[in-house]
Amino acid sequence: MGADIVIGLQWGDEAKGRFVDYISENYDVIVRFQGGANAGHTVIVQDKKYIFHLLPSGLIRKDKIGIIGAGVLIDPDILLEEISFIEKELGPLEGRFFIDERANIVLPYHKEEDFLEESSKKGVGSTRKGIAYAYRDLYMRMGIRLSDLKDVNWLSDRLKTAAEFNNQIIGARYGHVPFDWKVMRDELLIFFGQIRPYVADTVALFHSYLEENKKILFEGAQGTMLDIFFGTYPFVTSSHTISSGAPVGSGIPPTCIGRIYGVFKAYTTRVGKGPFPTELTGEEGKYIREKGNEYGATTGRPRRCGWLDLPVLRYSAFVNGVTDLVMTKLDVLSGLEKIKVAVHYKLDGKKLRFPPTSILDYERLEPHYIEMEGFELEGNERSFQELPENAKKYVNFIEEELKIPVKYISVGPRRDQLIVR
Ligand code: GDP
Ligand code: IMO
Ligand code: MG
Repeated sequence: MGADIVIGLQWGDEAKGRFVDYISENYDVIVRFQGGANAGHTVIVQDKKYIFHLLPSGLIRKDKIGIIGAGVLIDPDILLEEISFIEKELGPLEGRFFIDERANIVLPYHKEEDFLEESSKKGVGSTRKGIAYAYRDLYMRMGIRLSDLKDVNWLSDRLKTAAEFNNQIIGARYGHVPFDWKVMRDELLIFFGQIRPYVADTVALFHSYLEENKKILFEGAQGTMLDIFFGTYPFVTSSHTISSGAPVGSGIPPTCIGRIYGVFKAYTTRVGKGPFPTELTGEEGKYIREKGNEYGATTGRPRRCGWLDLPVLRYSAFVNGVTDLVMTKLDVLSGLEKIKVAVHYKLDGKKLRFPPTSILDYERLEPHYIEMEGFELEGNERSFQELPENAKKYVNFIEEELKIPVKYISVGPRRDQLIVR
C-alpha cells in the first residue's frame, strides 16, 4: 500500500496539521486533495509557528515533496504568499513542490460574493475565501483551471463567459459593480508566470512515485462533519472532506490506500454556524476556549467549544474507515474537576448512536452524557504510562467505545508533545 490518509473527524481544526508534521517523517510525499485557503493548519517546530492554508504541512521537512492535487482550489494571493514565506524560511521549493494543472482557481468575484453573502447574514458563517462559489463554477463546468492559463485566447473566451455569469449574480443580488475580465486575465497571466515552475501533471508524478515505492500521505482539510455530502448540510464546506475524497481529489486509485488516521480533539469545537449538540455556552466552554486557544487559524474567530461527542466520532470513524485514532489537545482538559462525554443522543424518546441526517432533528436532540473524573497534565508526558490514571481511563473509554486503537495522543502544540502508544 503506497498511500495513507490523515482526516479530521469533527468540524475541523482537530490539529491535523501538527499530526501531519509529526507523521510525515515516515513519508516521501504529502498531498492536499480538497478545500482551499479556508483551511488553517498550525505547526509549531522549535517555537517557530507555521500556519498553512494551501501548502501541505509536510513541506516543513526539507527532504519531503509537497503536492496540491486537482481537487484543491487555488487562491493566487495566498499561494504566492505561502510559497514566498516557506522559501524564505527553508530555501527553494522548486523540484519538491507541485500543483496539479487541473486545479481550479478562486477568482476575485468568488471572494466578493462570499463576502457579500456572509455580510448579508444569509451565509453559513464561511471563512469568506470564496470556496462555495469557486466550487459552484467548477461543477457548472465554468471554472478556470491552471491549465487554462497556458493559452491566452482560450483563457479569454472562458473567463469572459464566467465573468459575465458571476457579474450578473453579484450585480442582481447586491448591486455590485462588474469585475473587468480583461484585468483579471492579465493578473492571471502574471500569476501563471510566477508559479510556472511548480505546475505539473501530478497524476503522472504519483504514478512514478508509486512505482519507485515512495510513500504518500494525504493531508485532509476541514473535518468529516463539514463534508458536502455527509456533514451537517447545509452548514458544511463545499468539498469531500472524508477519506474517499483523497482518491477523488488526487487521481491516486483507492486500491493504494492503507492506513487512515482519524484525528479528533479530546473535546469538540466548531467555527461558524450550524448544529453542535454538545456545545457548552457557559463557563466551561469559555475555560476550554481560553485554555485551548480556540481561535480560528484562518479568520481569528472564537471557536465554539463543547464536550466530546461519541455519536459524531462513531459516524466519522465509519464513513472514513479509520484504522488509527489520534487524540489531540488532551492537555486542554487538564484542571477540570469533571469531564463529560456524550455517549448517545435521545430523539423523540429514541436512542441514537449516530448523528441524525436532517438538520431539523438536531434542534430536538438531547445528548446523553457520562461523567468522568478530571486530571492534571503538565504537557511533558511522553508515554502513556506517564499519564495520570484518570487521563488513561478517559483515553481507554473512548477506545473501547469506538473499537479502534488510540495510537497517538498530543499533550501540547509542539512537535515533540506527542505520545505514541
Ligand atoms: P488543523 O486545522 O486541524 O490543522 O488545526 P488548527 O491548526 O486549526 O488548530 C489546532 C490548534 O491547536 C493550533 O493552534 C495548534 O497549535 C494547537 N494544538 C495542536 N495540538 C495541540 C495540543 O496537543 N495541545 C494544545 N494545547 N494545543 C495544540
Ligand atoms: P481546517 O482545515 C474549521 C467552516 C467555516 C464554515 C463552513 C463553510 O483548518 O480544519 P467555507 O469557507 O469552507 O465555505 O466555510 O466551514 N470551515 C472550517 N472550520 N476548520 C476549517 O479548516 C474550516 N474550513 C471551513 O467556518 O462554518
Ligand atoms: Mg484549522
